[in-house]
Amino acid sequence: ANKKLLVLPGDGIGPEVVREVRRVIDWMDRRRSVTFDIEEGLVGGAAIDALGHPCPDRTMQQAERADAILFGSVGGPKWDSLPFEGRPELGILRLRKELGLFANLRPAIVWSPLAQASSLKAELVDGLDLMIVRESTGGIYFGEPRGIETLPDGTRRGFDTESYTEEEITRVARLAFELASKRSGRLTSVEKANVMQSGRFWREIVTRVGAEFPGVELSHMYADNCAMQLASRPKQFDVILASNLFGDLLSDLAAAVTGSLGMLPSATLGAPDSSGRRHALYEPIHGSAPDIAGKGIANPCAQILSFAMLLRWSFDMEEDAVLIEGAVEKVLTGGLRTADIMVPGAARVGTSIMGEAVVRE
Ligand code: NAI
Ligand code: MG
Repeated sequence: ANKKLLVLPGDGIGPEVVREVRRVIDWMDRRRSVTFDIEEGLVGGAAIDALGHPCPDRTMQQAERADAILFGSVGGPKWDSLPFEGRPELGILRLRKELGLFANLRPAIVWSPLAQASSLKAELVDGLDLMIVRESTGGIYFGEPRGIETLPDGTRRGFDTESYTEEEITRVARLAFELASKRSGRLTSVEKANVMQSGRFWREIVTRVGAEFPGVELSHMYADNCAMQLASRPKQFDVILASNLFGDLLSDLAAAVTGSLGMLPSATLGAPDSSGRRHALYEPIHGSAPDIAGKGIANPCAQILSFAMLLRWSFDMEEDAVLIEGAVEKVLTGGLRTADIMVPGAARVGTSIMGEAVVRE
């Protein structure tokens, strides 16, 4: 049976940049390399408006059936006054939780024509190509107990719990090692084993999983040092493995170092079932950009590159993924730029011209 692709455009610039992916798919269709079935669904504010829920049951059913999900982005001022439990952003949380998407993969790549956009000196980031693997369903964002309470002596406190089971660390570590073995063979595991018990445990389990991968060179780094290294010498890294909290911070830092929010894709993967099938969701790391929504100037590259990751990871279409990534790079080298990555001398174009240029390349 054909693989099933679910497309969830969402809000703001989401539908605008997803439209450019449809253009790429149409092109693949013309050269007959489309081997999947496509369905579209509602999520975020768009789903609230149509069906009263940021991730309605109908969307969940579509997601359960799908072999991969291409997600745009959700949220916007129209829904900002809703109570927390009803907001568009909960759409993505429900998908992550109910599909068991425990590993978030965020590449930070700097192609030569974009090295000037970095906050660092161009030579420090030119050619940067690292991948952060962030655990995304456990750790302190979900640990119990948590709360805000008043102690018997009247002291108020807020508290959360950092907690990881052996199984949670093992599965995300294994995924990171598999990835590292397909890349340069280097993996940096990040924690604070010097001051946290959960960090000591993380290091112990990752080391044990590492024994299954003799071809991968494992090193351990404290999270604070890793932040400093990322902000000064990012090219030393290949794959970085981190908890939910540290991975959140480090991946935002890595994104800032590349200087190009509109260029960065991501994948969130679940565990394979007995037949090897796993749920997976692909989305740009940027949000719905309400400040530029509707203007036709959003950069579609992050969404297009998210689709390339989808082809690689979920549909086993490595050649097509490489072709798309190469096309994006050629467009940049050729001097076309959306406003967010504009440099002097380049030609400023909007969303659809950029998408068309990628297809042409
Ligand atoms: P944002 O990523 O939407 O925008 C930050 C800045 O980057 C804005 O100035 C925006 O114009 C620019 N930008 C983002 N993507 C761009 C692109 N493709 N091309 C050109 N410029 C781009 O983050 P912000 O402003 O914090 O959040 C806006 C809304 O998006 C909020 O409702 C937030 O909750 C939501 N959001 C949703 C996410 C998701 O769907 N996974 C992730 C992050 C934020
Ligand atoms: Mg974040």
